[in-house]
Amino acid sequence: GFLIEKQYSMLTEHLHAARDEAFADVQLRTSGEEIPEAKQPLDSGFIDLPERLLNGEDDLLENIESAAKSLRDRIDRMVVLGIGGSYMGLRALFEALCDPYHNELSREARGGNPRLYFEGNNLDNDSMSSLLNLLKTQCVDPKELADRWGIVVISKSGGTLETAAAFRIFREALEEYYGADSPEATELVVPVTGETGKLRDLSNARGYQQTFPIPDGVGGRFSVFTAVGLFPAAVLGIDIRALLQGAADMTEWCRTKPAGENPVLDYVATCHLLERDHGMDVRVLSTWGNRLESTGLWYDQLLAESLGKHERGATPLTVVNTRDLHSRGQQHQEGKRDRVISNIIPGDPASSPISLPEAPDGLDQDLLNRIAGKTIPELLQAAIEGTNQAYAEDQRPTTDLKLSKIDAYSMGQLLQLFMLATAIEGRLIGINPYGQPGVEAYKNNMGRILYGS
Ligand code: PA5
Repeated sequence: GFLIEKQYSMLTEHLHAARDEAFADVQLRTSGEEIPEAKQPLDSGFIDLPERLLNGEDDLLENIESAAKSLRDRIDRMVVLGIGGSYMGLRALFEALCDPYHNELSREARGGNPRLYFEGNNLDNDSMSSLLNLLKTQCVDPKELADRWGIVVISKSGGTLETAAAFRIFREALEEYYGADSPEATELVVPVTGETGKLRDLSNARGYQQTFPIPDGVGGRFSVFTAVGLFPAAVLGIDIRALLQGAADMTEWCRTKPAGENPVLDYVATCHLLERDHGMDVRVLSTWGNRLESTGLWYDQLLAESLGKHERGATPLTVVNTRDLHSRGQQHQEGKRDRVISNIIPGDPASSPISLPEAPDGLDQDLLNRIAGKTIPELLQAAIEGTNQAYAEDQRPTTDLKLSKIDAYSMGQLLQLFMLATAIEGRLIGINPYGQPGVEAYKNNMGRILYGS
């Protein structure tokens, strides 16, 4: 019902120009020429990073894989400290690609991979205290694999208070457990940080044996395909090469295909035109499955922190359906006409489809015998179609991003699609998507309150 086709063809030229500008940054950076200060490329290193890593740049992939294997073989619990872009990407990968009850499973059922805990992403005394207690009560014999734990601390700047404070606290707990002079005290802590900064200095001073760099030119929320996401993902047994291949393929698609055949440009154009011409500045990422909730939260950060500047930028909102059809669904169907709903449709489940059993005579009060034999994915499909139809009948726009299934390759494609879309939309609307100057205000105030300077 939305007459965006005409506007779309008028936008095509600008869209291609925005895409070409974003990719020109990459060429400029990789040309090897001296670049004048005024022409320094934006923080767009994420664009060709998957391809560079797959092509063997700095042997980083091999190093990540061998260090991940060695950590995996030595610990049964991995505590990952990080916040924002140093946290959300891994969380999205973990929830999408590991078993939903990963931490509850036996080590064998986890494929020999450690359990995972996140900290340093908040200032929440209760959750931190619970994790410290859990480690204390569950881990009693440092020689037993089942009782061993380690830390991966991730901070590009090294100066983020939430992560730095958590690191100090968990480091002390780890040193108390294994002994400050034990090999474990330096071997079971893996810092992932920038080439310079406080965490880099601390790592050098404490002599951590294994560290990974976060390259300059890749911004925090665009860093999931650096060691930030790749190292802990590899420790969890995620196929990081498939992940990178999906991302590299999406980049190539975006670089070469024209609007109309290009999922990145089509997504940007649809969202942009509905915002510009119809005032729809709320972007609902409607994920059809629990495994994708953190992907939505990762995208919330990506969009909000990248384009929410100069009193502009759409507002992201993640929902998990069908769950949230029973909460936000009412507003999406009949509330303000201020939103575009982008469905992420997960495709085939990783597990065998579960069928609805036939109830015996006399116990069909729920009237489900009419659909006995149908599977949960079939019910989900009916919900997706029914919801899209209901929105369409009321002239409420939706877009569908369809995955064949949730696996490492498709997650690589999906995350790269959103990062490219955000960078290109920034070019299109004249907003630098990199950096987050607005986040400094609270940090400065907090610093003044805490340190008095
Ligand atoms: O996108 C960003 O750059 C931010 O969200 C950062 O990732 C976040 O503030 C954490 O920063 P750091 O990795 O320096 O601790």
